[in-house]
Amino acid sequence: MKPLLDIKNLHLKYHRDGISKKALSDISFSLYPGEILGIVGESGSGKSLTAKSILSLLPPHFSVDDVSCIKYLGKALPLHNQKQMRAYRGKEISMIFQDPMSCLNPTMKVGKQILEAFQTHYKNVSIQVAKEKILHLLDSIGIPDPSLRYHQYPHQLSGGMRQRIMIAICMIVNPKILIADEPTTALDATIQIQILQLLKDLQRNSNLSILFITHNLGLIANFCDRVIVMYNGKIVESADVLTLFKNPQHPYTQKLLRSIPQLHLPNLKELSYIEGSPPPLLENRIGCSFAPRCIVKKPECMLLAPPVIQINKNHTCRCILPQTIKSKEATYDKASS
Ligand SMILES: Nc1ncnc2c1ncn2[C@@H]1O[C@H](COP(=O)(O)OP(=O)(O)O)[C@@H](O)[C@H]1O
Ligand SMILES: [Mg+2]
Repeated sequence: MKPLLDIKNLHLKYHRDGISKKALSDISFSLYPGEILGIVGESGSGKSLTAKSILSLLPPHFSVDDVSCIKYLGKALPLHNQKQMRAYRGKEISMIFQDPMSCLNPTMKVGKQILEAFQTHYKNVSIQVAKEKILHLLDSIGIPDPSLRYHQYPHQLSGGMRQRIMIAICMIVNPKILIADEPTTALDATIQIQILQLLKDLQRNSNLSILFITHNLGLIANFCDRVIVMYNGKIVESADVLTLFKNPQHPYTQKLLRSIPQLHLPNLKELSYIEGSPPPLLENRIGCSFAPRCIVKKPECMLLAPPVIQINKNHTCRCILPQTIKSKEATYDKASS
């Protein structure tokens, strides 16, 4: 199967006052039709910058080294041309953000905001037809009484409802890819599950591909097909979800997995945590970025950037230790039972 989105060696730099720093290094991954790919990493690891690179919505002073490194349906996205990128944003690749309140216009009724999104790409459809389509969509994504909600302002809706409106703004133009950047972080646990279920239903019913960004590895297990683990602007491990949870190879992934609460287990142990904190993204250092916090590091880890090791066909790990750490570090299952 051919990927919808194919990113090869994305390097993102931050240039300011004549100084250039690496923000993202060597990001490569593909997103296939109808799959949910998770990107997980601590806050500040570069997840949102990766998403914003895809849509060329980067903050000032950031730029991609090779503007042809992101391919959509086999063709390089015109990252350097904002006007041309407008044809892709929303219509082909849409994005929802963590906090719907800051993305919705507080002075405009939510129905009008969805209508605007629709009219940006479908200029010749009558307002009546567009409105019917919107009401039908609102109903299908679990908004009760759509005709009432259509005429309400964002502040009149709950957090979960506002996130559904953001999803409607994305889905009204039938994108092929939805980038969901921490879409449930600002919501209560119960509403969080409802929104994840809604995204899963959309993925199944519309054959949507989802790039699901989260700092919470616990959400990945039941929701994603494959997962990418990021640390300090690099992908440190990637695998299908089952493999990553059963056989994590990178010491960082292993630690992350052990820090997920396992409430169903009878002998609940103290939660593990990773000592130290991640280095600032723009603080470039030699060697492996995780080495200062790694309990199985070797002297060379502080000096040499680790290569990407192909564990098997769909499993990669950016570490020199995957063969030796196995014996030292128990896997997730063993550690938590
Ligand atoms: N507008 C900006 N100006 C300067 N630095 C930024 C900006 N946006 C992001 N960064 C830097 O990039 C880091 C990672 O950003 P981000 O991709 O948003 O992380 P994540 O989404 O993984 O939490 C931030 O911690 C900050 O150091
Ligand atoms: Mg982010």
